Formats: sequence, C-alpha cells, structure tokens
Amino acid sequence: MNEMKKIKVGILGATGLVGQTFIYLLKDHPWFEITELAASERSTNKTYYEAVLGRWRWPVEIPDKIKNMEVKDCKPNLDCDIVFSALDASVAKEIEEDFAKSGYGVLSNASSHRMDEDVPLLIPEINPQHLELLDVQKKNRKWDGFVVTNANCTTTHLVLTLKPLNDWFVLDKVIVTSMQALSGAGYPGVAALDIIDNVIPFIKNEEQKVENETRKILGEMKGSKIEFANVAISAQCNRVNVKDGHTECVSVKLRKQANVDDLIEAFEEFNPLKGLNLPMAPNKPIIIKNEEDRPQPKLDRELEKGMASVVGRIRKCNVLDFKYVVLGHNLIRGAAGASILNAEYMHYKGYLEEYL
Ligand SMILES: NC(=O)c1ccc[n+]([C@@H]2O[C@H](COP(=O)([O-])OP(=O)(O)OC[C@H]3O[C@@H](n4cnc5c(N)ncnc54)[C@H](OP(=O)(O)O)[C@@H]3O)[C@@H](O)[C@H]2O)c1
Repeated sequence: MNEMKKIKVGILGATGLVGQTFIYLLKDHPWFEITELAASERSTNKTYYEAVLGRWRWPVEIPDKIKNMEVKDCKPNLDCDIVFSALDASVAKEIEEDFAKSGYGVLSNASSHRMDEDVPLLIPEINPQHLELLDVQKKNRKWDGFVVTNANCTTTHLVLTLKPLNDWFVLDKVIVTSMQALSGAGYPGVAALDIIDNVIPFIKNEEQKVENETRKILGEMKGSKIEFANVAISAQCNRVNVKDGHTECVSVKLRKQANVDDLIEAFEEFNPLKGLNLPMAPNKPIIIKNEEDRPQPKLDRELEKGMASVVGRIRKCNVLDFKYVVLGHNLIRGAAGASILNAEYMHYKGYLEEYL
C-alpha cells in the first residue's frame, strides 16, 4: 500500500455521534478521503459547521475542509467510492439498500442488516472468512454494491475477548453484565435528570443483540451459510453515568481445562492482524491491565487510540470457570473505528477494487 490515490468516502449520518467520530478518525487517514457528508433534512443544505453547531462532541476543532462542506441528502448520487453509514437504525435499512443497489460499498454501524443471512458481521481479527458471504449477497440481491456491517458496541468488546478463549479452550457458557456509557445512546441520548445519581437497567433490544451477534460472529462458514457458534450466552445491559467506554463483567465456562495463566496467555497472543499495517488496527487488540482496580473507563478507554479491548481482574469463578472485566471505547472500536478497520481490511484483501 505505498503511494496510491485516496479512496473517496461518504459518511451517512455524518452529524450524529458516530458520524462525528468518523470525521475525527478520518481527518488524516492515509488511504481514505472524505468527499461527501449526508444526514437528515434537519441538516441538509447547511454547511457541516452549521449543522453540528452546539452538538460537536470531540474536543478538537472540526477540520477546516469539513467545516465548509455541504451536508447532503442520503440519496445515492454522492461523489464517493464507498460510504460509511452512521445512520439511525430506524432509517438505515432502506437508505443502505438504496446505496448498495446503486453500486456503492456500504460499511454500516446500524443494526438493520447485521443479522441478515447474507450480510457479513465483520470483525477482521475474528471472522474474515465471513466475507465469503458477499458472493451469496450478490447472487441473492442482485446489488452492484454491498453491505458489510460491524457489531454492536458491547458485542464488539465482548467477542474480541471471547474469540481467543473459544480458540484455545472452546466456550460453553457466557454470562455478561454491561455498564454502558451515555454516548452509546447517540445525541442527545438519555436526559440528564434520568441518569445523574442513577443506573438504568434496560437498553432496548441490546441484550438480544449481544447474545445473537456474538454467536454469529463466532460462527463458521458452512457452504453458503454461517453456522452459529454453539455457546449459551446470557446478557444483562445497563446504562450508567459514564461519558464514553462500555465496561462488561464476563463469566465463562470452558469445555477444556485451563488455569488463569492459560487465559492470560491466550489473550496476550491474540493478534491476527499483526504485520498487515492497517492504519486503524491497534498494535494489540487486547490489552491486559494487572492493577486490581482496572480497567476503568476514564483511565483506559483511549488505549491503542480507542481500538483496544482492555481486560483486567482475570480470576476463577465459583459458578462458571473464570471471570474478568473488559472495557472498550464504544464510539471508536465499538463503532466508527470498527467500520474503518473493516474497510481497510477489505481494501487490503482486494474487495474494494471494483468500487474505485
Ligand atoms: N453511539 C454508539 O456508541 C454506537 C455504537 C455502535 C453502533 N451505533 C449505531 O450507529 C448509528 C448512529 O448512532 P449515533 O450514536 O451516532 O446516533 P445519533 O447521534 O442519534 O445520530 C444519528 C444520525 O442519523 C441521522 N438521521 C436520523 N434520521 C435520519 C433520516 N430520516 N435520514 C437521514 N439521516 C437521518 C442523523 O442526522 P440529523 O443530525 O440530520 O438528524 C444523525 O446524523 C445507529 O444506528 C447506532 O445504533 C452507535
């Protein structure tokens, strides 16, 4: 990947929290250049600066070039090769399909297509072979473009830690309790009076997403379908008063014998993208913190530029076999950073060639 023409990317839902994170992460990207921004009619026909006035949430200036760009309709007549979708799930399905039909590669954060049988739910460290579904998608849908999704933010950090455990010791059961940050709910999200001094033990559809997506991602390609992983998963998801970074307490039952040191070794050695030089990839996808009171969102969410899952408190469990805590940035590795990494991996593998 030496000197090359940059790939032109559009951002759908560019004004929301995930859309803003794309802008923050793609500012100086060596392969991708933002050429289009699109959102709802609330934002169209304004400059990006005007559209996000009062709701820009990254503590850096909006890049000058982006400030003055016009926010357009989410119609598939944009001047770009691929689109990153940060659309609200209520509208993502139709809009993403329109783009894929019209020949764009769509890399989506929305949940609308994640569980479709012919749509890859991709985490390149875990299931790159699921990209074979794109042939099936092309056959089924007759689209000139494609849709590839990334996982829910809580699923992403959970499954990144489950993958090495499944490879080494074969997972049997998983119980996870999440404490999810406010930015996971988008902007403006949860009202201050609802969350200050409080924990909300319900996030609509979240537990099903974590349980189902995890089994799909850990599943295996069998012919033209994914056979879901044979793991029992129970999730409880809570909204807590933290700005960014989801914390998850995980207990696992394994089918093979192991001890705590074996788990640490499995986490430490997990680095399938090592050596590929993908700009968004972390040096290590799993970072272990040894201090007894880590990981913590405030201290650890930015590790590896927000692309790591940070694990701590690995110990024996009296009910299942082992338990640990994992923390990760929901807007970066859990959303925009995940989509960018997917696009980089697909480009590295030649999947984007025909769209450029
Ligand atoms: N936040 C997270 O941590 C996270 C993590 C993983 C996945 N996701 C998913 O990523 C997507 C975006 O999340 P978010 O947190 O960024 O939400 P958000 O802050 O509410 O942003 C939603 C975006 O969708 C646009 N939009 C809404 N209705 C539209 C319509 N009818 N036509 C075109 N655009 C429309 C909005 O544009 P306007 O500004 O013009 O209204 C805005 O740009 C969601 O599907 C979410 O589930 C979020």
